[in-house]
Amino acid sequence: MMIVGPSPHVSVDGPVLIIGSTGFIGRFLTEACLDSGRATYLLIRPGLTSHFKATIINSFQEKGAVIVHGSMNDGDLVKKVLRERKIEIVISAVGGSNILDQLNLVDAVKAVETVKRFLPSEFGHDIDRAEPVEPGLTMYMEKRKVRRAIEKAGIPYTYICCNSIAAWPYHDNTHPADVLPPLDLFHIYGDGSVKGTIITTTTACLLLIVNTHFRLAYFVAGTDIGKFTIKSMDDIRTVNKSVHFRPPSNLLNINELASLWEKKIGRTLPRVTITEDDLLHAAREMRIPESIVASFTHDIFIKGCQINFSIEEPEDVDVSSLYADARFRTIDECFNDFVRKVVENPKVFKQASGNNNGIIMPAPNHQEALAIATCT
Ligand SMILES: NC(=O)c1ccc[n+]([C@@H]2O[C@H](COP(=O)([O-])OP(=O)(O)OC[C@H]3O[C@@H](n4cnc5c(N)ncnc54)[C@H](OP(=O)(O)O)[C@@H]3O)[C@@H](O)[C@H]2O)c1
Repeated sequence: MMIVGPSPHVSVDGPVLIIGSTGFIGRFLTEACLDSGRATYLLIRPGLTSHFKATIINSFQEKGAVIVHGSMNDGDLVKKVLRERKIEIVISAVGGSNILDQLNLVDAVKAVETVKRFLPSEFGHDIDRAEPVEPGLTMYMEKRKVRRAIEKAGIPYTYICCNSIAAWPYHDNTHPADVLPPLDLFHIYGDGSVKGTIITTTTACLLLIVNTHFRLAYFVAGTDIGKFTIKSMDDIRTVNKSVHFRPPSNLLNINELASLWEKKIGRTLPRVTITEDDLLHAAREMRIPESIVASFTHDIFIKGCQINFSIEEPEDVDVSSLYADARFRTIDECFNDFVRKVVENPKVFKQASGNNNGIIMPAPNHQEALAIATCT
């Protein structure tokens, strides 16, 4: 085992081990954990890494993170880290292709018996309730296996069901917040004729059923996913619960989202309908990971998986009810961030496509990008 970096400067409570800190969701969790002043250990796979990841790791170290080189699959190493560093909370944010590898982590956590809370890699929908078509279903079945292993081992857990990240919900992109919203045309999911229900509860605990179109989603800022995960990770009220992120201010349908972006860029864009059949076809193509995203997009915007159930079960808790004073960033603010990124980083205009280690232009049209840059 090789430990790199300084000891964390502030330790307000038990140490946290994060696995997947260099990933899309893991970055938000790690930032928030370090900001909270917790002793933060990061398990990072050794070997060649991109310049982008190296920069992220350096910035985490500067903020006090301790890097432990190794893989989650190395049970002996994980047990050693958990014991020697007296880790109390383990957060995993490994990606879709590594979900089942977490079974090794569950075994290690069970063996040391000192971890007070385990947050497996979830960070999306309630995977016991949602039933997407394949290939998304396979990923959910894997996540369910991990849940059942944690519960069987008697490890205290919290499942974070944070819904969609605040970004344009491209149906073929696993990391939509790394990409600008459209500059050429919008894909609007569903034909608008499908009616469904939002099931929610009033403060007086009355069941409220509202007829609506099934094109709604909760769009939550990545920084809020990080912040509220860290807030709830050792909250006694979240032990053995699913924490649902349903801020009312962040519930939008896809047409509202498109109109908001149009307001930001100061012009309207064509809206092209992507029907249920189109999404099912994209899912059936079995291009991984794009088809997985298509199946989730179908589940959200056609089947209404984020809104078609009540969270009144004893094992559920709404994050907004836990932290009533806490404010979620609005989509309006998140869209301002996209505009700001373009303005602050004009070199993105030169980049037509590909991984730019930051914001990516969806359309290779520099004039359109300039229009955005001047509209703030
Ligand atoms: N709500 C949403 O909108 C949304 C969007 C995307 C993802 N998600 C969910 O969030 C979770 C994380 O997905 P992601 O897309 O953020 O993942 P990701 O970007 O692919 O990152 C995965 C991270 O896990 C690390 N990792 C993988 N295997 C490991 C191992 N054996 N040992 C140590 N580290 C390992 C990777 O390290 P390396 O750097 O070594 O590869 C990387 O840091 C998933 O459950 C996914 O379903 C939710």
